[in-house]
Amino acid sequence: MDFDNLTLEQAQRSLGLKWNYYDRDVIPSWIADMDYPVAEPLRDLLYRVAEGSELGYAPFMQQERLGEIFAARMHSRYGWTLDPAECDDMTDIVQAIHIAVAVLCDDDQQVIVHIPSYHPILSACRNMKRDILASPMVKTGQGWQLDTDRLDREIRPRTRLLMLVNPHNPTGRAFRRDELERLAEVVLRHDLWVVSDEIHCDLVYSDAGPHIPFASLSPEIARKTVTFNSATKSHNLGGVRCSLAHYGSAELRKRFDRLPAGIRGGSNAIGHRATRIAWEQCDEWLEYTRQYLQRNRDDLEEYLKTNLPELDHRSNEATFLTWIDCRGLALQEDPAAFFLREARVGCYSGPLFGEQGTGYLRLNFATSRAILREKLDRMAGAVRAL
Ligand SMILES: Cc1ncc(COP(=O)(O)O)c(C=O)c1O
Repeated sequence: MDFDNLTLEQAQRSLGLKWNYYDRDVIPSWIADMDYPVAEPLRDLLYRVAEGSELGYAPFMQQERLGEIFAARMHSRYGWTLDPAECDDMTDIVQAIHIAVAVLCDDDQQVIVHIPSYHPILSACRNMKRDILASPMVKTGQGWQLDTDRLDREIRPRTRLLMLVNPHNPTGRAFRRDELERLAEVVLRHDLWVVSDEIHCDLVYSDAGPHIPFASLSPEIARKTVTFNSATKSHNLGGVRCSLAHYGSAELRKRFDRLPAGIRGGSNAIGHRATRIAWEQCDEWLEYTRQYLQRNRDDLEEYLKTNLPELDHRSNEATFLTWIDCRGLALQEDPAAFFLREARVGCYSGPLFGEQGTGYLRLNFATSRAILREKLDRMAGAVRAL
């Protein structure tokens, strides 16, 4: 296993969306897939599936097993004790977010979203016609912070649901216990429901961790929280469409059960097996990947400071998506459009993550060091040519 061996030519042969969205000369840095090969046990699974034509329906016991494996993993890694019977099968998390918005917030009620926000959360609220209470995060010398005091003042009686993403996409924050506890106080005082999307939890860096599951803060907060998780970000399985919900109370489960289970879609047999294998057999790969990403994070930070000082950036505590303030370039256009045209690097455009994202872009650094360096050189070249 050596991700340094990955070349641009190999990456360009990928069949996935990431490498097939832009023209061939563009280095894609947008959607949250890593360019790395998956762990060996996951590749073996695919060989076994092919050999035995194992493409039939998933047995029910697979779903039960997933809850057990998740509970054991949360306990051993993050000290969170939960009952596997409180877990439920979901297809993908974006779908689960839509369902949560529908069942935890009436159509005359309001959803709190931290801004910048993982964009499908904003789309889910819009799609389901729920009003959004935007809670802007604040950029400080210590990194991006939640502004929970301001949120506390702005909550109204019709505010019902908080969407928390921890670790946070796109700022790369891994929230500390005191920040989460302050948020939990506000949740309890205003009697809110919480969706805690913890899909990036296994990618917290060694100088920031450990991850703190929101529902683990106290039994009171667990009762208000549905946690979504999956192996797909940390193990590079975006296409397998398999995730899991943990309901912190019977009331939460009851609300999700108001909608027919069919709306969640059926179980993805390969997705289930892949998730189990990822959670049970791939920790060595995960640790290597996390360390590799942490080095990429540091290289990126150093590069930006030295070669692109006009860009304002806070180093990631978690995950491989990073939020870059390009307003210092004083461009007359969206920086993502500028870098796509002039550097042939394809990033996500800031305003997708909320209006306050104007002048920002989100960059994905989960690639080989050489490809990351090539992206950054191209971006620096484009800026020097301004
Ligand atoms: C915070 C967050 N939640 C959910 C997802 C996607 O989950 P899924 O592919 O299961 O819909 C992503 C993907 O990048 C993400 O960053």
